[in-house]
Amino acid sequence: MTVHDLIATSPGATRWPTLFSPVRLGRRTVRNRITSTPHSTGWGHDGLLTQAEVDYHVRKAAGGVGLVMTFGSASVDPESAASYGSISLWDPRNDDLLRQLADRVHEHGALIMSQMTHMGRRGNSFYSGVALKGASDLPEGVHREVPAVLTEAEIGVLVDRFGHAARRLMELGWDGAEVTSHGGHLIEQFYDPNVNDRTDRYGGSLDNRLRFGREVLASVRAWTSEEFVVGFRMSAYHGLGEGTGMTDDDLVEVARALTADGAVDLLSISGGTGYSMRSSAVFVPGDAVPENANGAHAGRMRRETGVPVVVAGRVLDVDAAERVLTENGVDLVAMTRALIADPTMPVTAATGGDPRPCISLNEGCIGRLYQGRPMWCSVNPGIREPDVDELSAAVADDAPTAPRMVVLGGGVAGAEAAYRAAERGRRVTLIERGDRIGGRAALAGTRRGRERWDLYLRWLERRLVATGVDVRLGVDPGVDDVLALEPDAVVVATGSVPRWPDWVEGAPTPVVDADTVVAKTPLPDGPGQVALVVDDEGGFVAPTAAEALEDVGWTVRIATSLSSVAAEVDDTQVWWVRRRLKQHGIELVDTVVPTHDGASWSLLDLESDLVRPAGRVDLVVLAGVRRSADRLSELLRRERPGLEIVKVGDALAPRHLLDAAAEGARAGAGWPKPEVSAEPPATVAAG
Ligand SMILES: Cc1cc2nc3c(=O)[nH]c(=O)nc-3n(C[C@H](O)[C@H](O)[C@H](O)COP(=O)(O)O)c2cc1C
Ligand code: SF4
Repeated sequence: MTVHDLIATSPGATRWPTLFSPVRLGRRTVRNRITSTPHSTGWGHDGLLTQAEVDYHVRKAAGGVGLVMTFGSASVDPESAASYGSISLWDPRNDDLLRQLADRVHEHGALIMSQMTHMGRRGNSFYSGVALKGASDLPEGVHREVPAVLTEAEIGVLVDRFGHAARRLMELGWDGAEVTSHGGHLIEQFYDPNVNDRTDRYGGSLDNRLRFGREVLASVRAWTSEEFVVGFRMSAYHGLGEGTGMTDDDLVEVARALTADGAVDLLSISGGTGYSMRSSAVFVPGDAVPENANGAHAGRMRRETGVPVVVAGRVLDVDAAERVLTENGVDLVAMTRALIADPTMPVTAATGGDPRPCISLNEGCIGRLYQGRPMWCSVNPGIREPDVDELSAAVADDAPTAPRMVVLGGGVAGAEAAYRAAERGRRVTLIERGDRIGGRAALAGTRRGRERWDLYLRWLERRLVATGVDVRLGVDPGVDDVLALEPDAVVVATGSVPRWPDWVEGAPTPVVDADTVVAKTPLPDGPGQVALVVDDEGGFVAPTAAEALEDVGWTVRIATSLSSVAAEVDDTQVWWVRRRLKQHGIELVDTVVPTHDGASWSLLDLESDLVRPAGRVDLVVLAGVRRSADRLSELLRRERPGLEIVKVGDALAPRHLLDAAAEGARAGAGWPKPEVSAEPPATVAAG
């Protein structure tokens, strides 16, 4: 019996009948319509697959995903280095783990397909030292490296390489492969006339520009059996801005031509292209983009091609997924980030459970990847550290004598610690000064577009209730109150406060913390009043405060000490953030710090050392460096020496949502730690 047999008899199978019904792809049947589309994790090195990544995909299969697609941008060619920590499909050193992955996914009843690609100009030679090769010698607007032009002979070799990679996958037990052009990979670089200026058989007319894609798909078919599922991924709109690039109609023509005559069993539809920051900002749509961003486009592609379609783009829960299938008329639905946030989502939802929701911020997954870091998840620490989930599920102690934990602070870190400790049978009391769970995340979640943050905070609240945590809101405890609860351990998750810079002293105008402005935006006294938002943080705080002030009538300027406003915001979001500020008429000034003479404000340019008057300023708002708000742990330690005290999240060191969730989870799931003997190991003692 697999997870799919469980789902088939669950209430979910009746409630979401299309989503949990099988679908044919070529000669194969997928057990349900939920798909994890290919994505890089950044966990590999030198193109090598890791055991952690194998286990990660298996978790999704065990969670009830119908179609597991893997390895964004897996390379078929040694000269197109695996980018973003992805996999080299041509490298035989991956064979054992590839086989293991396919076998283990099959044990759970899912099908497995790998993406295959050549990145063309969408790569870099930083590490390989080998020049990129592209359709033409035009650099991409994001990676900006000029590629060498592929010769016809080299194109022939690449066509074979796609076929060989598919064959290898098939022989290792895989069900199919997806050839991708999406995001401006090599196949798109050939068919897009704005990128391809060749004059040979691969340039010029549409037919010529499609030749490479057609040959690749034919090669994959030729090298594999009829059972092997051949997929093709492309963008249905490029999002380059009005009147630029290929039109939606052009892309429909591409889809029709490349899927004709049974060349493709599954067409995967997304949006955007790697042409520019603007068009990249819709690849993995963040919270500035509407949910189900690509459903209508995908429905059109389905009608125009007649080929089964999977659509990706912010479909985040099973209700939405069912609607996408029935209203947009597609065949499968990507729930990729929903599955990163909770790999058990399909079976959990189907059996009446409560999956952890994705908040669509992108900061913890694709945002990290674009910053050259491994993919994790802001709300699911188990992606980075599967151990925390295993520990949370550990057998409970005897209830009345179980160790007692007191958690101070009901932000994300505190809530994660509390419910996970309670899941393990600990007796847990959580004390929060405010009137709700969420802390600083609740405030950050008020930013326009962040409605999903509240889903996550409500989910944490439900976990606290379900696990029996004694939650005390509106309580600001002293040392005696905490000790009266007779804790065996105290988790300090009391968050952070601003660290006020020296220039606040004697300031000519009020200086306030950006958080207070977001919580309750002050009204200007009259027209023309100017608020100067000082951004030393580089994230979303200054933009959020600035927009709130502009909304109620302030003239707003943001001055940052960094190289640009929102410098720390990831590439999938930063374009949207800065666009919105500029559309609101908010002035952005970089590389400056405020200074004053007690009567008026100036801005000191950090590069030139020039100081210029800041003009009229009526209010200064600080989005700056913060410090721990812990005021109890030292006192507790003094009163009760030996008491276990664990600081987490901002109370330890102010950082991000991801760090708060991870540290809270670790503290809750990992406590008490296994006993460690004070005796030195025998070998040391003997020596
Ligand atoms: C961390 C991460 C890495 C990704 N890498 C790739 C990739 O290499 N190739 C690709 O075609 N899509 C990639 N994607 C895009 C996903 O396949 C999918 O289209 C996207 O997440 C939108 O679907 P969702 O809203 O269901 O998450 C990536 C997505 C994420 C979150
Ligand atoms: S990091 Fe954020 S956007 Fe990515 S999967 Fe997790 S919650 Fe969703």
